[in-house]
Amino acid sequence: MDINTSLKLYIGDVSELETKINPGSINMIYLDPPFNSDRDYKLNHKSDIGFGDKWNDNDYEKFITLTINLLHRLLKKDGTLFFHISTSEMFLPEKILRNRFKYVTPIFWKKCRSKNNVKNKMGSTIDIIFQCNKVSKPKFNLVYQPRDENYVKNSFKNKDERGNYSLGHIVTEKTKTGYLYEFTINDTKYSPESGWRIKKSELQKLYDDNRIHLPKKLGGNLYKKIYLHETPGKPCTDLWDDIHSLSQGKEKRVYPTEKPIKLLERLISISTDENDIVLDPMCGSGTTGKACDNLSRNCILNDINEDVVDIIKSRF
Ligand SMILES: C[S@@+](CC[C@H](N)C(=O)[O-])C[C@H]1O[C@@H](n2cnc3c(N)ncnc32)[C@H](O)[C@@H]1O
Repeated sequence: MDINTSLKLYIGDVSELETKINPGSINMIYLDPPFNSDRDYKLNHKSDIGFGDKWNDNDYEKFITLTINLLHRLLKKDGTLFFHISTSEMFLPEKILRNRFKYVTPIFWKKCRSKNNVKNKMGSTIDIIFQCNKVSKPKFNLVYQPRDENYVKNSFKNKDERGNYSLGHIVTEKTKTGYLYEFTINDTKYSPESGWRIKKSELQKLYDDNRIHLPKKLGGNLYKKIYLHETPGKPCTDLWDDIHSLSQGKEKRVYPTEKPIKLLERLISISTDENDIVLDPMCGSGTTGKACDNLSRNCILNDINEDVVDIIKSRF
């Protein structure tokens, strides 16, 4: 069914998507499956809305393997599949993903700050989102995380008349043709052993504009000045500690295990452009659809649970 012109919802088993979606047509897939947690999830004690997550290990492995194989076929060559899982159940999916995808990189999502109710074990605050690609250079947009106080204090210590700045590397360890040259400043010659990351003309331009940091000691490297006031934030790392789960945020939970919209917005921004197609094959409350709507992406949602129809409709 069409929820709006850019959002479709299917109700059915994930395996049925084979007949509904063309192979190699999807830019990004977000998969947040049952985690094999041996629990049944309900929204609350008064509600039956939810899903079961009790498996035997063989059935779960078969289910995830078949699903990954199918989603791999639907994904474009330069597309990304994100697989969301708990740290306690990450081993099996990682094994399956590494068999199918050439590049698998974990993102560590710190979903909450602390667990005050644990006594006999360490509180678990991390979920893993495996970023899976078919090629080494998939579609990728750099996004920024908010700067924290420590990052600003430690990284932007240097200061000149323009403002505080951090040091960007311009010396390389991997020599490239055309990048081995000598650069002279006030009779001191800089000639790094393996060369530079930037062309001589670019280095000259930066130097002329007072954007090169000179070493205090003889033999030190040159660095590019990266000014605090000119950067939009901290270039995104693989530790996401600035997005909180629904229980700690302001969003009202409408489905058990529902994920925050901000998390989906970041995954979508990194891996797609406007009007690209995103698929969430086990969409629950449709968080991915909502994030796609906010960011002008087309979206296909699917879930086996009919209860999600009304929930998703009510979010639009
Ligand atoms: C962890 S929840 C997804 C939560 C969702 N990300 C959200 O923000 O609300 C997993 C979903 O997978 C669905 N599911 C389980 N088995 C499925 C299957 N074989 N095919 C399609 N969906 C399935 C469940 O009904 C459940 O809604």
